Amino acid sequence: MPRRIILDCDPGIDDSVALSMALFNKAFDVVAITAVEGNVPAEMATINVQTVIEQLDPPRLPRLGAATANDNADYRDACFIHGGDGLGEAGFVTADHHHRHLSEKIICDEVRAAPGEIDIVCLGPLTNVARAIQRDPQFIENVSQIVMMGGSFSGIGNITQTAEFNIHSDPESAREVLHAPVKKVLIPLDITSQVQFSLSFIEQIPDESKPIGAFLRQVVPYLFRSYHQQLGLETVQIHDAIALLQLLEPELFELEPMAVDVEVKGELTRGMTVFEKRRGKNVPHNVEVARLVDVSAARQAVLKYLNA
Ligand code: RIB
Ligand code: CA
Repeated sequence: MPRRIILDCDPGIDDSVALSMALFNKAFDVVAITAVEGNVPAEMATINVQTVIEQLDPPRLPRLGAATANDNADYRDACFIHGGDGLGEAGFVTADHHHRHLSEKIICDEVRAAPGEIDIVCLGPLTNVARAIQRDPQFIENVSQIVMMGGSFSGIGNITQTAEFNIHSDPESAREVLHAPVKKVLIPLDITSQVQFSLSFIEQIPDESKPIGAFLRQVVPYLFRSYHQQLGLETVQIHDAIALLQLLEPELFELEPMAVDVEVKGELTRGMTVFEKRRGKNVPHNVEVARLVDVSAARQAVLKYLNA
């Protein structure tokens, strides 16, 4: 029985790789793809979700949700990594997207229609899920689980010294979701950044004759350029692909129940995920955190699903 999922994302090049893994995978019934402001501003995230669908032309078309701006005054995008269009400046031409319902409405509608059946996979900031919680009092009890790429167990950030991008983009929403009474799995930067991909990744994905190959070969090269120019790295991290993998091959990960909160006030620490690491403190656990990953198996698994 395929696992019914909603993918909430901010494409974004690594989001695009994760979407490519999910949309042709018979293990998933992708009920909806909902855009969220993050790597790129809201309107661009909405258009980019449609672009990905048009480029990949998957066998089953999911419902698409429109992003709206988050309420975080110090939000800033990550176009310096993903390109001015968020998709590696590939220059895709996308049909005028019809009127789209808001992402949080799509999320609430689909979860209400299938209580207990849907996993929400969050590959961007948690704005839409927090808004769904506020929109529908029964939403959270009807969700099967929420799997999130985000946070930093070590406290070393990627967008500030202490904060990971998805959490930093909307700390208040992240705090609300991380405290929601539902099963939650968090795949933090400590895990996703271990699985590095070299330039050989581009030869190892399908060729241009396949939609995934044609699409990713236009989008992914930019990531290597930006990681080299901006971060001085010769490899890239495909964070969202690793987060999605936790659903596909959970045995590649080791999870630990933990207590986590989000700093929303600190001048230097706003958006930081703060984990209870002290021994003997019986603080209630609110999330299962991925603490270990089989790095080489995860790298091979991403390529396996892209070539399936
Ligand atoms: O910190 C990495 C995360 O932020 C990834 O999901 C990336 O796509 C951005 O959304
Ligand atoms: Ca993302």
